[in-house]
This record gives sequence, C-alpha cells and structure tokens, in this order.
Amino acid sequence: MENQTYKIAVLPGDGIGPEVTAEAVRVLTAAGRRFGCSFEFCEALIGGAAYDAAGHPLPPETLELCKQSDAILLGAIGGPKWDNLPVHLRPEAGALLPLRKALDVYANLRPAVVFDALANASTLKREVVEGLDIMIVRELTGGLYFGKKKREKINGGERVEETLEYTTGEIERVARFAFGLARQRRKKLTSVDKVNVLESSRLWRDVVTRLAGDYPDVELSHILVDNCAMQLVRNPRQFDVLLTENMFGDILSDLAAQLTGSLGMLPSASVGGSIGLYEPSHGSAPKYAGLGVVNPIATILSGAMMLRYSFGREDAAGAIERAVAAALARGYRTRDIMEPGCRQVSTAEMGEIIAGLVEKG
Ligand code: IPM
Ligand code: MG
Repeated sequence: MENQTYKIAVLPGDGIGPEVTAEAVRVLTAAGRRFGCSFEFCEALIGGAAYDAAGHPLPPETLELCKQSDAILLGAIGGPKWDNLPVHLRPEAGALLPLRKALDVYANLRPAVVFDALANASTLKREVVEGLDIMIVRELTGGLYFGKKKREKINGGERVEETLEYTTGEIERVARFAFGLARQRRKKLTSVDKVNVLESSRLWRDVVTRLAGDYPDVELSHILVDNCAMQLVRNPRQFDVLLTENMFGDILSDLAAQLTGSLGMLPSASVGGSIGLYEPSHGSAPKYAGLGVVNPIATILSGAMMLRYSFGREDAAGAIERAVAAALARGYRTRDIMEPGCRQVSTAEMGEIIAGLVEKG
C-alpha cells in the first residue's frame, strides 16, 4: 500500500461546498505526506453550479469522472437560486439522488460522535451525550426516494401516489453491512422499522432477523421508528449501530447530528458499490457562502472515512480523527461551536491547524 496514488473526484458543488472541500483536500494531502500515499484530485461541477455552467446539475462529464476515480469527495449542493427549476433539474433530485443510484452506494454511514471538548455544545445535557458514539447505517438507494411516483388531477383536486419498495436482496446487503460494522464496534445492532403499520417493515424485520444467525456475536434488537426518535433524545448512548431504511434514516440522522452539537461536525460515507462517495451531512448553507466562517470538520472527517472505507488506510484515517480531537482540545473553534474561553478561527485556519496536527502526529 505504501506510495500508492489514489484518484479522487472532488465535487465542490454550491454554497459553502467549495470552502469545506478545500480544507478536506488540504488535510488529506497532509495525511498522504505523513503516511506515504498521494492523491490526484480532479475537480468537476455538480449541483446548481453545474446547472448554471452546463445546463444540468449532473453533467455526463462529472459522472464519467466519478466512475473513473477511486473515491469521490462531495461538498454540498443546492440553494434558493435553483429551487424553482423543474424537479429533474434541481440539484437534489437531478444530481445527488441519481449519483447515489448510479454508483449503487446502498449503505450510507453517518456516525454521530461527541468529541470530549464539545460535550457542552449540544442542546442536550452533558451527562446525556458525553462520550456518545453511534453509527447510523441508512439504506440509500431504495425505498420512498426511488419508488414509482404519480401526480394526477381528479374531481377538481389532485391525487398523488408514492411507493415504498424493497426487495429481499436490497435489505440483505445493507443489513450485512451493518452487522459487519457492529462486529467491529460494540457488537450491538438495532434495526429500525414500523412493523406495526408497514408491509415493507415486516419484510425488513424478517430479513434482518434471519441474517442474525450468521452473526451470533452481534446482539440484534428491533425498535419502532417513533420510539427510536424518542430514545435518541432520551438516552442516545444505549445505541451502537442503528440500521434503517432510506427515509427513516434521513430523519433520524439529522436528529442524531444535533446530539453532537453541530451539523458542522458530521461526516458521511456512502459505500457498498465499487466507488465510495464521501460528503458532510450538512447542506450548502448559502447564506454563509464565501464568508470563511463555516466548520470544515464534517468534510475533513468525511476524508478520514474515505481513507478507512475506500482505501483501507486506518492509520491515516485515525490520524485525521485524532488531529480533529486535538484541535478542539486546544480550544480552536469555528463559529458554530464557539464557546467562551475558546479561540474562534476561520474555515481555512481550522483546516490549516488540523493539517498541521496530522503531519506532526
Ligand atoms: C441527506 C439529504 C438528502 C436526502 C437530500 C438533499 C436529497 O437530506 O443526504 O440527508 O434526503 O438524502
Ligand atoms: Mg437529510
């Protein structure tokens, strides 16, 4: 693995996307210098920026570059400027969802970790969130997001249809991913469903239960999604790995993000296909674009996840995570996590500080 070169497609996107991806690139480069690997970063347009320049939020050249890369680093997409476009040209439906589908990245990993230095930053009490470390595994290429949809006029009104589809195979592959991750962690897997109402949840629960036999060392439990939302704010540390279908995972992962104090801290990895997609869990925050005030840590930590899940470089991934913890422990804060007695730094300064700590080790 020494001195390997990895080709990374960098898709900065809209709003604050370019600022945060620049810092992740800086930190990855530092990690490469220290751990003997190099990166070839190739930029391409996506989202509103791509629509403005090329007339489509996911131009064919961008998709082609992604498919020829070893991994993809995405900033954020969307903004009010593009909200009124027809659905298929909007950044979310026209670029992000098709990109996930085209790459077949069916497992979306969203860790919610409370760094010691930030235990007071959450809106929940310190004793509830201190030491929190949960991993949400969200199914990403099926369910309501991709099911058949229809909108029609009837009797002077309208009628919509939206379908939630899953096959045994789709449930199995993401569940196996979650069991595997639980096995490397605290060996507890909680599968989220709405088995009392949805047929899709009954299949989901059947499949997950059947697979449990292959992972006797993992303790499996099931929870209804409404109860899960409540338990996440009541006592989030009871969970280790949470496995959910697409829509439930979208909602629960924002909830889990807030437990950690700021959405600006939450990375994500979308994996399972041959090329992984790494992006912060936050959006494009257009009102902060270009001001240099946002938190690049979510994107920097997404870079660490890339090193771990796409390249198997646990050494470099761990070094980035420790550097983030060290920067926070030394009192450096971007505006979203600023506390009295700490030192407020810009987006680029935070990137420089973390890159410096990665290189020094
Ligand atoms: C997310 C986002 C996306 C989703 C939107 C932008 C389509 O909320 O990644 O969680 O719902 O998957
Ligand atoms: Mg979401």
